Amino acid sequence: MPFSEDLTGALVMAPMTKGSNLPYRRLCVELGARVLVSEMVVARRLKQRRKSEFALIRRAPDEPCFGVQLAGNQPDEMAWAAALVESRGADFIDLNLGCPIDHFTRMGLGAALARQPKRVARTVEAMRLAVGVPVTVKIRLGWNATSRNYLDLARAIVDAGAAALTVHGRTREARYRHPADWDAIAEVAAAVPVPVIGNGDLLFPHEIADRLASSGCAAVMSARGVLIKPWLFREMTTGYEDITAEARLAIYRRYVDLALAHWGDDDHGRTRAREFLRWHLGFWVRHARRRADGTWPGMQEREPDFAPRSPLEALLARTDDAALDYMADRLLAQDALDDPPAVGAAATAPEVTEAG
Ligand SMILES: Cc1cc2nc3c(=O)[nH]c(=O)nc-3n(C[C@H](O)[C@H](O)[C@H](O)COP(=O)(O)O)c2cc1C
Repeated sequence: MPFSEDLTGALVMAPMTKGSNLPYRRLCVELGARVLVSEMVVARRLKQRRKSEFALIRRAPDEPCFGVQLAGNQPDEMAWAAALVESRGADFIDLNLGCPIDHFTRMGLGAALARQPKRVARTVEAMRLAVGVPVTVKIRLGWNATSRNYLDLARAIVDAGAAALTVHGRTREARYRHPADWDAIAEVAAAVPVPVIGNGDLLFPHEIADRLASSGCAAVMSARGVLIKPWLFREMTTGYEDITAEARLAIYRRYVDLALAHWGDDDHGRTRAREFLRWHLGFWVRHARRRADGTWPGMQEREPDFAPRSPLEALLARTDDAALDYMADRLLAQDALDDPPAVGAAATAPEVTEAG
């Protein structure tokens, strides 16, 4: 199927460091995901033949359309990495221009590269000439509120031959403090002739439908939304689900199966699976239902009046370490979750290693 058809009306699973691990992508495919992107892969580390980086470009056998996201700022190195990734089965290759993390921006990668549209254009062109699959680019709105260069950047990227563009509607400095600016995303969609994928704050199917209808975007992308509720992909076709705690648990148990199939059902594999499981639980416990008055909770809000419908639902909403460790251990052991620990004193916010 041509790439533009894959994209039309799609909910794309975002590139996410740690979050877009292979077993989690497989879980999302089972729940309806059709277009998925890898974790961010640093081209230089591929060049250095680092095994951990090569693990990130592996495609799952059942992935319908899989993109690999590359970070780098040397056109020749990026061309080489793009060709390598294509030869390993990527259906498209995405250039990261959004990563806000100092460690990478100091090296001129991610959001720092986005400040140099000419260099971006050279990089996109070099990548495009090196591969037969589409090259896409993921941008933010700019570095900060006073340097929102998204229109110039988008035009330079499209002129250089990108097949599609993802726009995360925030600047590098804004992080998650403000809502995504969908007016700016719509401006890009109106300004360029290629499909635009809008990204930011999507958590419920009606929000996705509204953004698809009003922004001019060909597709939308979700990151935190699908970490919190991977069944968002299913809701794309069946509508909002007032999902039970048992149905959520079945999904989390399925992730454990896929994680062990991927990392191996031995000591080493179980340690790795537990590390990821514990991390995912930090997002899973943030799920909140539609409120009794019919309104919708926001992505970052805790529900003050949350009334669990069962002891299991109460457990799945706990954010304290004791509960998260208990759930990780029990899920990994394929055991019941019927004797939860007392609520731990210190509740921790989920760790977010945001690389985009
Ligand atoms: C855990 C995590 C890891 C991320 N890693 C990446 C990444 O590797 N590459 C990237 O382009 N964006 C990355 N992002 C940013 C997301 O792709 C997305 O642009 C951003 O979270 C906004 O979408 P959302 O409101 O649906 O979360 C990451 C986000 C999260 C939460």
